[in-house]
Amino acid sequence: MRQQLSRSAGRRVGRTFGVAGIGLALILGAPVAAASKTPAHPLGSAAVDTARMLSADQEPGTWMASGRTYSEQRFSPLTGINKANVSKLGLAWFGDIDTERGQESTPVVVDGVLYITTAWSMVKAYDAASGKKLWDYDPKIDRALGQVACCDVVNRGIAAWQGKIFLGALDGRLIALNGKTGKVEWSVQTTDPKQPYTITQVPRIVKGMVVIGNAGAEYTCRGYVSAYDANSGKMKWRFYTVPAAPGDPTNTPLLEKAAKSWHGEFWKYGGGATAWDTILYDPKTDLVYFGTGNGLSWSQDIRSPGGGDNLFVSSVIAVHAATGKYAWHFQEVPGDEWDYDVTNPLMTADLKIKGQVRHVLMQAPKTGFFYVWDAKTGKLISADKFAPANWASKIDLKTGRPVENPDARYNETKAAIVQPAPLGAHNWHPMAYSPKTGLVYIPVTESSTGFQSAVAKDFQVKDRVYNTGTVSFSDKITSLYGQPGALPRGNIKSYLEAYDPVAQKEVWRAPDKDYGAHGAMVTAGDLVFSGDWSGRFSAYDARTGAKLWSASVQADVVAAPSTYTIAGVQYVALLVGARGLPPGQPRTSESSANNSRLVVFKLGGTAELPSKPMAGGTVAVRRLDPPLLTGTNEQVIDGQGAYGRYCAGCHGQGGVADKSIPDLRYSSALKSLSEWNAIVVEGSRKDKGMVSFKSVLADGQAEAIFHFIISQANKDKASEQAARR
Ligand code: HEC
Repeated sequence: MRQQLSRSAGRRVGRTFGVAGIGLALILGAPVAAASKTPAHPLGSAAVDTARMLSADQEPGTWMASGRTYSEQRFSPLTGINKANVSKLGLAWFGDIDTERGQESTPVVVDGVLYITTAWSMVKAYDAASGKKLWDYDPKIDRALGQVACCDVVNRGIAAWQGKIFLGALDGRLIALNGKTGKVEWSVQTTDPKQPYTITQVPRIVKGMVVIGNAGAEYTCRGYVSAYDANSGKMKWRFYTVPAAPGDPTNTPLLEKAAKSWHGEFWKYGGGATAWDTILYDPKTDLVYFGTGNGLSWSQDIRSPGGGDNLFVSSVIAVHAATGKYAWHFQEVPGDEWDYDVTNPLMTADLKIKGQVRHVLMQAPKTGFFYVWDAKTGKLISADKFAPANWASKIDLKTGRPVENPDARYNETKAAIVQPAPLGAHNWHPMAYSPKTGLVYIPVTESSTGFQSAVAKDFQVKDRVYNTGTVSFSDKITSLYGQPGALPRGNIKSYLEAYDPVAQKEVWRAPDKDYGAHGAMVTAGDLVFSGDWSGRFSAYDARTGAKLWSASVQADVVAAPSTYTIAGVQYVALLVGARGLPPGQPRTSESSANNSRLVVFKLGGTAELPSKPMAGGTVAVRRLDPPLLTGTNEQVIDGQGAYGRYCAGCHGQGGVADKSIPDLRYSSALKSLSEWNAIVVEGSRKDKGMVSFKSVLADGQAEAIFHFIISQANKDKASEQAARR
């Protein structure tokens, strides 16, 4: 038994045991006797390499990569915190974060240091035991870039490798930092800064290379994934996910073939299919997998008139790790029109299927169908619904194609109500798999939305705004929603679901009080940890879903936790803060309007979050209080269209906010058109991420949107009052 206990800064760093397997983990969490006093890796070494990653289970007290291991199961072999003692979990320490946008990263903990990223691509390193801040890094992102970050200016975390910490920054830079000091070692621009690309994903380390994709499929970007040498930052390979214009030098023979699945001058819109979240390296197959997003526009009438599969939109792609050369692909949504990105987390596992152990790749994408593939060949093993979906009835296991509901397609004259809505049944929020229970824990959201194509002949691509070519509010959509038996519009409900990937069936669900998805982690202590949008962090029995422990974290939670040990003590760490505050929760943080924080728990922890509201920070129960509508019907209709195209991506469909961006129905700017224009036209809040829309809005449109929001707020106020009666 190899022991790797190390002493640094006067205490042992909790690296543990060289015996394989989970059985051993039973003794973890109990204080560990010092065996060797030689520091294996001094504090801040970030000494991750392939061998160490491959034997991650032999040091269960580290969380070396965002998904912990190459499999990205987000399963911890630690059992120090378990069903018997989880009720004693308390706050060990916390650190305030200096931004009020969404916090999505999973803490990575290696060699005694805990690393997080925050909104605006900032990195922070803490002593993982004491919570002392060791360093901060701010790449100073131009706040105007917030305009092209479709879904908030978030970042999902770092990768650690041989002393360096890697960050994919919002502005497309890939940055290598010194793990001990946070100083920049190298930085490369992975995108054309003139194009509206952004990066929010975790870089993945593959054989000494850093692999990174990008986002921007709503804004005329063409997707690709690239690999850079981790030491030098030199590019090693790049894989484009969609063809460019005929004759373009980046069109490989594969992409020329893919171009046959497109029609029209699709390249004018960029193509899309950006691989903006999941990237997975599997050492068993030596393949790198990633999922691609939607095409541009969403509407096929505009993107590819006449239809077609539009390869490789909404596909899982496997490439050879060393070269980036194509191995296989699986298109989940041929000719996608519903923003069904399949960029959602991928994981590998060994599952016993029909008596045989199979090495599989799994995904629970936006579409509502859970997929299990053979990881080596991409052959579909099974696919079934893990959440309600009306766009397709099932997946044909022979062809791998969805059996579509013909009513789900839309065009200029035909509307459709589709479930799930574009945010999906499961989006980027990390899911977790326990080899002990055999269950996948998926944060599920149920929602529906209406689609209709914009009028193709009038449609123009515009710079730096949504170019989806769709409308989500129209008379036809309203009338569909008015029909008996129609689905509820918008967000319906959310829950944490335990899903059996072999039997393809739900085993339990833990419903949320307030709607919203939140990442998950599972441990060998048979606990599933996840936060929620009611401001709580909870532990559930991994087998039954019973809630065993819960604590207030005073903020909405979207990120996933991680767990680690230092000197034998097990900690659970989580980033909180996103989209405003939970109902009734006052602001308690000096530096963040949404109480963004890093919170770290341990058994018997006695730290406390500040309980006093900040001055001016009390949140009263919000009531809609708009001025009376003075705009004309024409203005409201014009405003609805312009809002849908230029504002809804950030401020939410129909003016109802779904991110950390203000809900305009409550804005005090509704009381004064000149204040409104100062913000919307003149860009008075540019440095907060609300840029001027002067160059995209036609004359009168800012005012038209103003009247549309007032009209919407009055309608919603009337229905709230009716509901209270
Ligand atoms: C890329 C994201 C994004 C888009 C697109 C966007 N906004 Fe904003 N908007 C923001 C952010 C972020 C804020 C909060 C700024 C702050 O903290 O003061 C904001 C704030 C506002 C406010 C002030 C709200 C308040 O009371 O604090 C108004 C009004 C507003 N936006 C109107 C619009 C309109 C109208 C459009 C479409 C033409 C639009 N926005 C498009 C991100 C966006």
